[in-house]
Amino acid sequence: LEVLIKGLHRLEYRGYDSAGVGIDGGNSKEWETNSKNIHLIKQTGKVKSLDEEIHRQQDVDLDVEFDVHLGIAHTRWATHGVPSPVNSHPQRSDKNNEFIVIHNGIITNYKDLKKFLESKGYEFESETDTETIAKLVKYMYDNRESDAITFTTLVEQVTQQLEGAFALVFKSVHYPGEAVGSRRGGPLLIGVRSDHKLSTDHIPILYRFFTNNKVMINNVSLIMAGKDKKSCNTLPRVDEDTCLFPVDEKAVEYYFASDASAVIEHTNRIIFLEDDDIAAVRDGRLSIHRIKRTAGDHPARAIQTLQMELQQIMKGNFSSFMQKEIFEQPESVVNTMRGRVNFENNTVILGGLKDPIKEIQRCRRLIMIACGTSYHAGVATRQVLEELTELPVMVELASDFLDRNTPVFRDDVCFFISQSGETADSLLALRYCKERGALTVGITNTVGSSISRETDCGVHINAGPEIGVASTKAYTSQFVALIMFVLLMCDDRISVQTRNHTRPQNLIKEVLSLDEEIQKLAAELYQQKSVLIMGRGYHYATCLEGALKIKEITYMHSEGILAGELKHGPLALVDKLMPVIMIIMRDHTYTKCQNALQQVVARQGRPIVICDKEDYETIKNSSRTIKVPHSVDCLQGILSVIPLQLLSFHLAVLRGYDVRLFYTHFHLAS
Ligand code: UD1
Ligand code: F6R
Repeated sequence: LEVLIKGLHRLEYRGYDSAGVGIDGGNSKEWETNSKNIHLIKQTGKVKSLDEEIHRQQDVDLDVEFDVHLGIAHTRWATHGVPSPVNSHPQRSDKNNEFIVIHNGIITNYKDLKKFLESKGYEFESETDTETIAKLVKYMYDNRESDAITFTTLVEQVTQQLEGAFALVFKSVHYPGEAVGSRRGGPLLIGVRSDHKLSTDHIPILYRFFTNNKVMINNVSLIMAGKDKKSCNTLPRVDEDTCLFPVDEKAVEYYFASDASAVIEHTNRIIFLEDDDIAAVRDGRLSIHRIKRTAGDHPARAIQTLQMELQQIMKGNFSSFMQKEIFEQPESVVNTMRGRVNFENNTVILGGLKDPIKEIQRCRRLIMIACGTSYHAGVATRQVLEELTELPVMVELASDFLDRNTPVFRDDVCFFISQSGETADSLLALRYCKERGALTVGITNTVGSSISRETDCGVHINAGPEIGVASTKAYTSQFVALIMFVLLMCDDRISVQTRNHTRPQNLIKEVLSLDEEIQKLAAELYQQKSVLIMGRGYHYATCLEGALKIKEITYMHSEGILAGELKHGPLALVDKLMPVIMIIMRDHTYTKCQNALQQVVARQGRPIVICDKEDYETIKNSSRTIKVPHSVDCLQGILSVIPLQLLSFHLAVLRGYDVRLFYTHFHLAS
């Protein structure tokens, strides 16, 4: 338990809202019989509260000793259902805890699997996608061909049915002391600790040649475990040559973890699993299995020795959460779209808006209400929303909206955009709109937050926890979520024309590769007092957001200026000393932006221009450019904001502010 709790503490830096452990049950008197029981302890909130809960348990004897034992533990960031003990992991197969599982990631076909399992009489207790995995493994076990079926085979059968992303570890009363883990799209590693010599430093992969008997039920193809004699015809050979163990059968400890920081204080000998590997520990021996062999597969997994210190691993290559989250954006925007955008038939499904969408389409006006960065996500997507829905769209700062007692009507639809889902003004504005009978829609990152619960419906952006106080990945995910909403609003008239476009994650990666260049730019600017950021159209929001990031973390003055307003006053600020950043993209505002550039140059300004990498004219006419790849007009703002996120970060570091001090977001600070 101490090892598990410490491991969870080491992962706290990733952010979470609840935690749980699953251990061998039993107390010293009855441990023979109870060694087959599994005990689950789960708690909302901090790991510390879980630890306290463990010590409050009457029926766990903390002094009992086992020869072989396995415990699993997990911290959860809610994506399916509110943070609560029943939604925390481990999730279980049934009231007797026959199978338990911990899961990182998202199972996108869980609704179909759940429907199938419910039709077979399995009863669900949580709102999680993970519970379907626990039930599915029991279903496979209940329908097994013979009692000789191994835990690994069951897990293989389960993972074949799962769509989405996962790292999983299973434990079962039917297989005491055995651990099985698997991954697809989520990290999973195994630390090995033994004071004795190990049998090998390369574990060969075992392949199972599997002929499935697949049946289609509710659009789910399920292997009928055990119903077909051929289903496990070629069992892999686990023997001295194919697994890892301490020579002379001495003591050994295996640590499955999503992140090396959880295990590094116990061992630096680590095996990194690959997608679709299934790793099993039985009788102190570790074996690694795969269902089929594909060309280019490496035939073994090596034990690597990590030379890193704990601190180093926790930060990864990043010096702060803000930087880590900026660089996470290729994945976080994909997580926002996962299970929602079908790139094959160009459709968008937002589960949370399926029922109310007809009502939203009939509304008289859309109002987007938010604070700070979340407000900018509204500004960024307003134009495309107006264009494609032909509805009046208002974008409001929550505090001002309330100050004005803004009239709101029953046929209005009000959006509340919020990373935390707890921002006071946004929440007050939500209650204000509800009282007036408007339909309320949340765009939130935090499942179970006040805004998520109190809105009539909404979309969780699934960007993962944002710990850095300056909002970065939440902005780009809010942006993507709002664009998905726009596409849903006009489903019959426009399709997702993504086929001929590079996927957004690749474009974001390309922008992130400008980091070094932007760091150099920051070195030239960091001693300045002020930075002006100018643009218009789709990129006005980028100017506001870039200026907010700079103000917030570098303590420099910065202002986002609508280029169309330049000659109405702000131009007076421009001279040869004033740092100016301009955003010029090849959309309908291109000529107007070129005019603005001329005005700035005429006042001896030397603007740094963020532009399309193929806009050779702007590149030729500007003394300095930051060149980003091209995307569709309405998504270009995701790419234009990233150089400014990076710039603000480097400016803060160079100005001597410890960006690490911005670690704790207020909603995690309580
Ligand atoms: C659900 C899963 C999601 C998974 C997807 C694919 C949950 C919480 N989400 O997402 O992780 O990827 O299926 O199968 O189980 N809501 C509000 N206000 C908000 C946000 C959401 O009322 O601010 C409501 C929605 O209307 C919906 C529920 O919360 O009823 C879940 O929303 P969301 O997570 O966005 O739904 P799915 O996309 O179906
Ligand atoms: C800026 C920032 C804030 C938040 C604002 C709203 O980097 O983090 O401006 O965007 O406080 O917070 P949420 O989105 O949680 O409602």
